[in-house]
Amino acid sequence: DVSLRNVTMRNATAPYLYGLMFEDINHSGDGGIYAELLTNRAFQGSDVKLGQTPGLDGDVIVQSENPRLPTGPVLTGWQAIGNVRLSLDKLHPLSDSLPTAMQIDIPKNATGEVGFANHGWWGMDVSPQNFTVSFYVLANAPRKKNSSPTDFNISLRSNTTGEIWATTTAKRIDVPTVDYYQINATIVNTKTAPNTNNTFVITMNATQVAGQTFYFSMFSLFPETFKGRKNGLRKEIAQAFYDMKPKFLRFPGGNNLEGISTQTRWKWFKTIGPLKDRPGRPGDWNYYNTDGLGLLEYLQWCEDMEIEPVLAIYAGFSLDVFGQEGTSYPSDQMRTTILKEALDELEYCMGNASTTYGALRAIHGHPEPFSIKFIEIGNEDWFSDTYPERWEILYGGLKKAYPNITYISTTFNEHKNYTIKLPPGTMWDTHHYEEPQYFLRNFNFYDNWQNSTNNTDVGVLLGEYSVYQVNTPSGIINWGSQAPVDKDAHVTYPRMISAIAEGVYALGGERNPSVVKMSSYAPSLQNLNGYQWTPNMIVFDAGNVVLSPSYWQQWLFARYRGKQTLPVTNSKGDFNPLFWAASVEEGEQVVYVKVINAGAATVPLTVNIDSGYSGVNGTILTSNDIDDFNFFGNKTVVVPKPLVGLDADGLGTVNGTFKWDVPRWSITVLQFNTG
Ligand code: AHR
Repeated sequence: DVSLRNVTMRNATAPYLYGLMFEDINHSGDGGIYAELLTNRAFQGSDVKLGQTPGLDGDVIVQSENPRLPTGPVLTGWQAIGNVRLSLDKLHPLSDSLPTAMQIDIPKNATGEVGFANHGWWGMDVSPQNFTVSFYVLANAPRKKNSSPTDFNISLRSNTTGEIWATTTAKRIDVPTVDYYQINATIVNTKTAPNTNNTFVITMNATQVAGQTFYFSMFSLFPETFKGRKNGLRKEIAQAFYDMKPKFLRFPGGNNLEGISTQTRWKWFKTIGPLKDRPGRPGDWNYYNTDGLGLLEYLQWCEDMEIEPVLAIYAGFSLDVFGQEGTSYPSDQMRTTILKEALDELEYCMGNASTTYGALRAIHGHPEPFSIKFIEIGNEDWFSDTYPERWEILYGGLKKAYPNITYISTTFNEHKNYTIKLPPGTMWDTHHYEEPQYFLRNFNFYDNWQNSTNNTDVGVLLGEYSVYQVNTPSGIINWGSQAPVDKDAHVTYPRMISAIAEGVYALGGERNPSVVKMSSYAPSLQNLNGYQWTPNMIVFDAGNVVLSPSYWQQWLFARYRGKQTLPVTNSKGDFNPLFWAASVEEGEQVVYVKVINAGAATVPLTVNIDSGYSGVNGTILTSNDIDDFNFFGNKTVVVPKPLVGLDADGLGTVNGTFKWDVPRWSITVLQFNTG
């Protein structure tokens, strides 16, 4: 029985409940949502092996040789064309941040086309659109008298047939010898390549350049991006996020915020400004991060999706390589270095143009200050016993400067029994990578939350959760098994059973809006060709994007959230296998009843709405097999479908009873028209 009449029993739903968690893992950023098409564009480091063709259904996995240490500088991803020699050069840096250039020596006897190709992030998609190109070039000697300036032919080509899809030429460039010259160009492409085994090619004519040496640095090739942002996001992936109707984006980590050493932590001030001034860093997930997707790009991502940033700030603790205990900043540096850095970061985000860092942001192209409502202090700090002090320093210092921000602490871990006492108005970030049974058992986890943590008025960001492994004999999460090793211990792709279990847990959150204020699946993205963690909500390669059942569960719940929760009473027994929650939409026209059948048998359902309804429709996510998943060969095994022919009898009745057999293994949102 769903009560619309008893308004005193309602609660406001959490306005930011469903959102996104993002960090650069699994090439989710470089080689993922960051739309740059070139791998190793400034020779900083790469795990993309040359010539590797994208695997469609297979698991082609590339790890750097030392799994925790991305190597660089390297020429990986680049290939010579014609009679030339490519090498790394350290004597002609483009900038302090990009110390390595690519040298090309063209012998005197060279003929024909000479140059090089880049193979992209395991290939590149070529479809009709304009591609934006830029690169820097320098010559080692002035052009000889009577020789002609250089034409740089820039093209997109098939790596298998050599066919040229589109080309443009930067003509008659008198390449300087002192400072680099930047070439900007547009490739207008009208063709659709049959596959993603394509390359970006720059060539010169040997008649013009034989005997010369050039240095090249900082290449870039962008397709059209989400909402047309310069240096922006890959359209199809961003669109998939946007379609979920998320309310926030937590970034930039995750572990990747913390660094595998204090020196290599994510430093916001090294991720801003012109790309040639961003050094990048060895990320936490075994590959080099360019930081092309930097602080401003994250904020613009939020702006373009109309969502709130949940900015995670570095909290003075870095993970260590080879399983050591991690490194904490000494207390005396917490204020002088770490708090100061965080305050500067916030000034960059929110300061107006009269402030030092606000002015810098304006120079970087965004004079309007952003608004930050949520700050997370650190990530998973239960790994460190220094957090209580670090939290006090950062929370105290930031709260003083920005009293209206909601601060999120990261130490809660029910398995580790490590909590600190938080002040009212703050939040915990809880993480759950679990078995399906865990989520079913803990449907009521947040019902008694305040009591269990001994805190009052402390909310929850359910910041990372997903079904990690399914029905392993021990039922214990096997952290020793990371992709690609030992796939049995954790699932490769989210399955229908994952979506069901995650959905049940999400319903537990929806029922407790005064506690669970925000939630996000993690990790969100995986490049099929280079990854460190499975399962992930969305899997992609250079040309495909696959949305998992877990994605669709999030999509379904985020779309139909409602303005207020409604009381539901049930005379037929407790939850399980059926789980439910109800809410009413703004304007009272529509009541949503979310129902999950986690069992293997159909369950008859009767819904009474005390003020009646005049029509009902719904959307269902279900599958024949609970282990079904979507994959590259068949992306639509599990997708939401409209329910048709619902309630032929009850339609149009007032005070009517809705009867429906809930299919096994299903997630449904019923929409009752109550207007
Ligand atoms: O989501 C992958 C990792 O899981 C995150 O980086 C970390 O916060 C958690 O341990």
